[in-house]
This record gives sequence, structure tokens and C-alpha cells, in this order.
Amino acid sequence: MTSTAYEHGIHVRPATAADAEAVLLITDAGFGVSSEPENQYEFSVFPLEQALVAVDGERVVGYSAVRPQTITVPEGRSVLAETIANVAVAPTHRRRGILRALYTEQHRRTEAAKRPITAFTASQGGIYGRFGYAPAVVTHDIVVQRAQAEFRADAPDPGGVELTPIPVARQVIPEIYQRWQRVTPGAQQRPGVSWAMLFDDPVHRRGGGTRLFALVHADGYALYRYHRRATGSAVEVVELRAVTPVAYAGLWRALLALELFDRVEASVVPGDPLPYLLTDPRQVYTVAHRDALWLRLMDVPAALTARGYAGDLDLVLAVHDPFRDAGGAFALRVCEGVAECAPTERAADAELGIDVLAGMYLGAHRARAFAAANRLRTGDPALLRALDTAFGSEREAALGWFF
Ligand SMILES: CC(C)(COP(=O)(O)OP(=O)(O)OC[C@H]1O[C@@H](n2cnc3c(N)ncnc32)[C@H](O)[C@@H]1OP(=O)(O)O)[C@@H](O)C(=O)NCCC(=O)NCCS
Repeated sequence: MTSTAYEHGIHVRPATAADAEAVLLITDAGFGVSSEPENQYEFSVFPLEQALVAVDGERVVGYSAVRPQTITVPEGRSVLAETIANVAVAPTHRRRGILRALYTEQHRRTEAAKRPITAFTASQGGIYGRFGYAPAVVTHDIVVQRAQAEFRADAPDPGGVELTPIPVARQVIPEIYQRWQRVTPGAQQRPGVSWAMLFDDPVHRRGGGTRLFALVHADGYALYRYHRRATGSAVEVVELRAVTPVAYAGLWRALLALELFDRVEASVVPGDPLPYLLTDPRQVYTVAHRDALWLRLMDVPAALTARGYAGDLDLVLAVHDPFRDAGGAFALRVCEGVAECAPTERAADAELGIDVLAGMYLGAHRARAFAAANRLRTGDPALLRALDTAFGSEREAALGWFF
């Protein structure tokens, strides 16, 4: 078995079936969970045999799981990304560079597999910038004061939403998700085991709420559960996906009609239309602004030519990538939404970190915001406007399923 030596006597090698118990101990201790009843799920979403372990002698002291996922990128294109999950280091071995060693090895493998991007969801925000990652999908947690939320007279009222038994919903919802996923940057194709985890709905994953309920429209669905808490009653929207604005309005009409409950809680994209559908937009409170998906470009030309663009560009980007000792100057030319990109010797028009490019990649963050923070440097305001337009996305980025 190949194994790579790092500092402090740590080796990184591929995980094997014999590591399962030690890995679960590391991840349970790392995330503060008890995963025993879900073991069958854990390794079927992210197979143990594809993962890496860090070992100190014989002892497993670090873990990092991986699987390829097809992710939609702007203008309805898609990319096969390497996605990383469940990274944890033993509490006895932290801050000795084990995470750094796992990522170094993982990046080597991703490069060999020629995946243009890597992605993950993160439990902490201060760690991954140094490795070239940035949040590329943003989500807002909202609370709607249900009784005060009234629809405007001109808000769509399509009907066609049905309270659907879960066994029926699990048959029809994956096809609706697929249509939504294909047009939504950041959304991933979803494996059957992820659907099983959602619909099997084990009691210990309900956060104290009821079982799942499903509202289904031909072009969208909402899965939700009820909570009765000391602080008041609430409807928790577990997942709402709508292919069309009309389906979206129809689903929210049904959710806001759940009249025995004070609040409706959901996660939405920053430009969510719900406040625009109501007579009083203040009834939708944003209680948190969170990152949902982090990205890294592993191959700048392959990643930049994989997505579509909303405007033309012709410039040279100087990209800094110290963690992989990569980067360089890249000529990027976009014509009618299609990009060509290659290393160049030409002088740069703009300079930025590889993480900044990741932040802009799905259209969730604007070039001008990074420029204001001195993380994208150019002397040309027109170029900044062109970058903002070109890197924008008609449809806002959203995470498909949490991993
Ligand atoms: C997060 C975790 C994986 C870090 O592992 P680690 O082996 O201690 O990290 P390393 O020693 O390799 O640190 C790498 C770099 O990240 C920094 N870093 C590590 N944890 C950090 C934290 N919580 N906040 C800010 N920086 C952090 C280190 O200072 C180091 O910086 P440098 O190399 O630029 O000097 C580990 O603390 C852990 O298992 N935490 C609990 C589970 C978890 O949060 N997993 C992450 C899931 S997204």
C-alpha cells in the first residue's frame, strides 16, 4: 500500500475496510456525533476505500473522504468535481499539520484524476482560504412570521400543490430535483443513498421535530416538519426546490397556510423572491448568512472553460496559488458565453488569488466586492464591470444536497 511520509512521523495512505472502526471513532469525536445507526449510509455516500487516513505508527489519527460529483455551473453546463467530506483529526493530534498533509495528498490525487475543481461544505470558515478555497454558494436562513405574512394581490396563485404521502413523494421528487439541479449552479446530481437518507427520516435526525411532510407541485416540492418548542411553534422547511417561479409561489402559499404554527423557517438564496410576493416584506427576517459550498480551482483553464458566461471578456489574469505552488498568468477570452483560456507570457490586466476566482466561479460573489477588499487588483474600472457581468449567473447558485 502506498503511503506518504509527512512531518512528526505522520504517514498518509488510502483507507481500507479494516480502518472502518478507527475512522468512525475519529469522525464521531471530531464532529461530536454518534453515527452507529447510520454506518450503512456513511460509507455508501463517501466510500471508505476512496478515502485517505493519516496514521501515527499503526494508529489512525486523521481522515478525509472523497467522491466525484457532477455539479452544475453557470449557463446550464456541468463539471465533474472532486468533493471532500468528513475531514477530522484526532483531538490528541491537532495543529501538527495533519489536515495540511491530507489536503496535499488529496490535491495530488485530484490533479492526477484531472478534475478541474474540488468542493466541500465546511464546519469552520477560518481554515480553508490558505488552501485556495472560498465560499462559492451563499445561503440565507430566514424566519417568516406566518400569521402576519400576506400575499400581494398580484402574487401568483397557481394551485396544483398537493399534500403528498411520503412513499409517493419519494417516487416523484427525484425527477423534479433533477430538472431543478440542471439549471442551478452549485447543485449536484444526487445519488440514491442521499434520497434514502432523506426519506427514511430516522427519528434521531429529526432535531426534536415531527416526521417529514411533503407538498408537491408538478414543478417543485417542499419537504417540511413541525416543531413545538418552548419558544413557540415552527414549521421547518427541510428542502424546497422549484423549477419555476410559479411553483415557488404555490409552495409558499401552502406553507404559509399552516395556521397552527407561528413561524416558518427555511434556507434560501440571497436573492430569494419571497419578500417580493408579500404585502409586508419585513415579515421575512434573515437570521443568518451562511456559506454552503466551498470551491477550489485545480486547473484554471479547464475550470474557466467549463462554465458559461453572461458577457464577453478579453484579459490576462495573474492568479496566485501558493499552496500548490501553481498559478501563473492566464489569457481568458470569452465570446458569446464561451471561454478560451490558456497560460500566457502577456502582462496581466488583473491580479487575484486562486480563492478569489473560486468565490466568483458560480456567480455568488462579485469581482467588485473582492476589488474593494484589495483581493482583486486592477487599474481598470471598465474591466471590473466586465468581470462582474461575465462571471454573473442568470440563476443564483444553491447547494443541491448537503454532504
Ligand atoms: C479542523 C481540523 C481538521 C484541523 O486539523 P489539524 O490537523 O489540526 O490542522 P493543521 O495542523 O493541518 O492546520 C493547517 C492550518 O490550518 C490552521 N487551522 C487549523 N485549524 C484551524 C481552526 N480551527 N481555525 C483557524 N485555523 C486553523 C492551522 O493553524 C494551520 O495553519 P498554517 O499551516 O497556515 O500555519 C481539526 O481541528 C478537526 O478535526 N476539527 C474538528 C472537525 C472539523 O471541524 N473538521 C473540519 C470539517 S470542515
